[in-house]
Amino acid sequence: MTYFEKPVLGIESSCDETSVAIIDGANILANQVASQIEMHRKWGGVVPEAASRAHVEAILPMLTEALAQSGLRLHDLGAVAVTNQPGLVGALSVGVSAAKALSIALDIPLIGVHHLEGHLLSILSVEPDLSACLPMLSLVVSGGHTELVRLDGLGRATILAETLDDAAGEAFDKAARLLDLGYPGGAAISKLAESGDPKRYALPLGVRDDPAHFSFSGLKTAVLRLVQHEGERLDRAGLAASLQHAIIEALTRKLLFWLSESRVQTVALVGGVAANTALRARLSAQCAREGVRFLVPPPSLCTDNAAMIALAGSLRLAAGERSDPTELDVFPSAPLPGSPRDY
Ligand code: KG4
Ligand code: ZN
Repeated sequence: MTYFEKPVLGIESSCDETSVAIIDGANILANQVASQIEMHRKWGGVVPEAASRAHVEAILPMLTEALAQSGLRLHDLGAVAVTNQPGLVGALSVGVSAAKALSIALDIPLIGVHHLEGHLLSILSVEPDLSACLPMLSLVVSGGHTELVRLDGLGRATILAETLDDAAGEAFDKAARLLDLGYPGGAAISKLAESGDPKRYALPLGVRDDPAHFSFSGLKTAVLRLVQHEGERLDRAGLAASLQHAIIEALTRKLLFWLSESRVQTVALVGGVAANTALRARLSAQCAREGVRFLVPPPSLCTDNAAMIALAGSLRLAAGERSDPTELDVFPSAPLPGSPRDY
């Protein structure tokens, strides 16, 4: 599997990060990210209208900074890759409009990229040769997604397990809110968990006997009950550690089931929750024990970024795919290429 022959510009604006990246082959020359987290924090979540407006303000400064970081000029770019699905429609439109304008003005090809495919292919930052890791089991864990995917090639993805309710990142975020740790709370929970005992509180692990589903909504209820019952006695660090432990166990057990079923030699961990140190350590140790390769991008490429969009787009461009710059549309939900359902 090869990369597009010229530098590719990547643009990501599907949720609350405005990001512009430039790659050359699999080399990431620049990856600029403007996060809106501070702005959304005061509302306790992402406000779509505010997100769109912030993307409009950030997109050109990010482009300028990405060019400066890469040392390239606009005319050195060979193609543009942009997230066009799934995500907040207003937010996606900002990135897609910018990408179309660049494609037309510079007369270079355009390619629309599925956000989840971007996360899946973020592992190209640590293993540029996709064919060397196929077939692969990939755990996609973020604020909006919890999916275990089997990847057999570009656009050949099969969802083996998905969540019935909350995403893993949502479980972190909701518990963090109950503990007054702010939004988003994954990083804050994991910091607090460092000084806590993961066995302090017994928390539910979701659906155990159903290999095709995760469930994390019971965790939020259990945390709420503990916060209400324990009051002043609550061991906050113990609860953070126990919650993190429950999420990691639920993810690891399902992964191990599918690993024993599918005989793949590579496991990948991607998405914002993949920035979690304890989860990385647990899966890394488990994969070593199972004798399979474990791939995880650096934390900066786990959370939303345009480098992963450029990498995925580059493979598709090299395969001859193009999007029409006058017609590329945005979609709030969309099937992951190769899978029959909407995400
Ligand atoms: O991929 P991402 O940036 O955005 C989505 O597409 O959702 O993921 C954001 C999610 C949030 O739920 C956040 O709490 C979680 O990733 N997250 C973490 C950590 N860093 C970010 N969860 C656990 N531990 C972390 N260190
Ligand atoms: Zn994401």
